[in-house]
Amino acid sequence: MAIPDSFIQELLNRVDVVDVIDASVPLKKAGANYSACCPFHNEKTPSFTVSPTKQFYHCFGCGAHGTALGFLMEYQGLGFVDAVHELAKRVGMTVPQETRVIDKVAEQAALGMQEALHMALGYYRAELKKSERAINYLKGRGLSGEIAARFQIGYAPSGWQNLASVIKDYQSESLGVAGLVITNEQGRRYDRFRDRIMFPIHDQKGQVIGFGGRVLGGEGDDSGPKYLNSPETPLFQKGHELYGLFLARRAIREAGKVLVVEGYMDVVALAQHGVGYAVATLGTATTPYHITKLMRQTDNIVFCFDGDAAGRKAAWRAAINSLPALTDGLRLSFLFLPPEHDPDSYIREFGKDGFEAALKETQPLSQYVVQTLSSANDMQSHEGRVRFLNDVEPILKQIQAPALSLLLRKRCAELAGVSQAELESLMNLAQPAVRRKSAPARSSRKPPTLVRRLIQMILLRPHLALQLDASMVPGNGAEDEVFGHLIRLASESPSLATSALLQSLRGNVPESLMAEISAEVMEVDDAFEIEDEFEGAMKQLRDSLKQRELAVVLRIAQEQGLQALTQEQKMLLQQFRRGAVQGSEQNKV
Ligand code: CTP
Ligand code: MN
Repeated sequence: MAIPDSFIQELLNRVDVVDVIDASVPLKKAGANYSACCPFHNEKTPSFTVSPTKQFYHCFGCGAHGTALGFLMEYQGLGFVDAVHELAKRVGMTVPQETRVIDKVAEQAALGMQEALHMALGYYRAELKKSERAINYLKGRGLSGEIAARFQIGYAPSGWQNLASVIKDYQSESLGVAGLVITNEQGRRYDRFRDRIMFPIHDQKGQVIGFGGRVLGGEGDDSGPKYLNSPETPLFQKGHELYGLFLARRAIREAGKVLVVEGYMDVVALAQHGVGYAVATLGTATTPYHITKLMRQTDNIVFCFDGDAAGRKAAWRAAINSLPALTDGLRLSFLFLPPEHDPDSYIREFGKDGFEAALKETQPLSQYVVQTLSSANDMQSHEGRVRFLNDVEPILKQIQAPALSLLLRKRCAELAGVSQAELESLMNLAQPAVRRKSAPARSSRKPPTLVRRLIQMILLRPHLALQLDASMVPGNGAEDEVFGHLIRLASESPSLATSALLQSLRGNVPESLMAEISAEVMEVDDAFEIEDEFEGAMKQLRDSLKQRELAVVLRIAQEQGLQALTQEQKMLLQQFRRGAVQGSEQNKV
């Protein structure tokens, strides 16, 4: 759904990025700006900078940057639309209602779904209080009423149409879309979840988006599958969501790590014993989306799957699926429990201390991968080493993190008895990329080009764009494109704030360029006489445009003679002959 740009601009004008960030990351005044240790990477000295006048943040350590809106998206893991709503709520603004009919329908459907899920949740929770059998089951698994309440655990009683008693329109479309009811071939509807313990699944805002339901019996229970989950719905995608993440947020920050486990009960039992930083995948393999989502919360991810064969298989898949999301700053490791245990049984037997002691013995991802593959092959024989190299090749190719990639190549080459260079040419591996995300250090940055300086000036004083037009963009590189884009935006609405301009550039500009521009703008002294500097830059720009034109004129004159020139071109040539225009082509923009 589209929210009008004008609303975003107004919203960014209304909020104060300092307040928004300070609420989550306490800021200290540092000169004209505020600073803190960056919440997006690990650091000991603050390089995260927030400008109250420019209304955006930039981290000189990792290159993270954005407006108040961008901060909510990154820090809370919200989508754009959710972040707009969240920010609007804080300042008491109402997000304009969508006007396009098709979106309205989708929105109402989503609203209906959300409402249905919410009502079902209330119903299941109330039913748990009434069912001694369900309460006893949870007690038998060592859970207190407090923890059940915290996780909003409920009970779906047996019976086919219980939800009809709480949801007025049992036939409504949204009940089906939300996955709460199933329609059989005869067109009869019935509740999906019957006689099950209900675990609600929350999104990042704490809204229920689906359920997992467990039968009350033990392994031998024959009332269908042990766990039944909501189907994929517009609100709930298993490959994206993690059970318990909403509740675990704070504990994850405090512990400086997140534990990824397999089961609902693992998460709840760990929390029961004081380990609140666990989340679970939802009966699916760990996906790169999961990793990326978790990386927003912490840079230390520990996988702890069941000790059985299935758990080991899940660990391997998690390792492989994580490869593309790896960065050098991320710590990813594995905790292998004894085969007879899962995290739930382990913490019940050994308690929090025992569990956290085991957590000290995790295996880093790279070691795990190399060890698994080298023990799967006979490294004493040539054939075994060839197979080992074949196995590691796709893995090495997926790793983008430069340092990790380098170390792994070294290690694999060593194990296979070849040199690193031999391994690289054998596998056709490119040199590990230079750090992608990090912004260049302040001192090593090249002096900005003219276009770059103009971009900075327009970002800081948008009204200056009124003196420019699209024909004055000197080239067609990425910078020139940004320049043209800014001229258009800022001359249409010269009262736009820096933050609104930055926000609208996002997504239209390569991220690396965006990070550089953000760093440069953050560093410009606000009190600085930008208008004066602009005069000078405009003169340079005009000169260089003239030079460009002159080069064309000279070429035409040479190739086709003077008569081929227009009146204006002839004048330019005369100016050049009088020495009024410098003709150096090297003196590029
Ligand atoms: N799962 C599922 N469907 C099943 C079995 C399992 O979706 N039929 C998913 C659930 O998310 C479950 C996880 O896989 O939480 C782990 O399954 P399992 O190890 O079998 O269950 P436990 O977590 O040990 O559950 P419990 O301790 O309640 O038996
Ligand atoms: Mn279990």
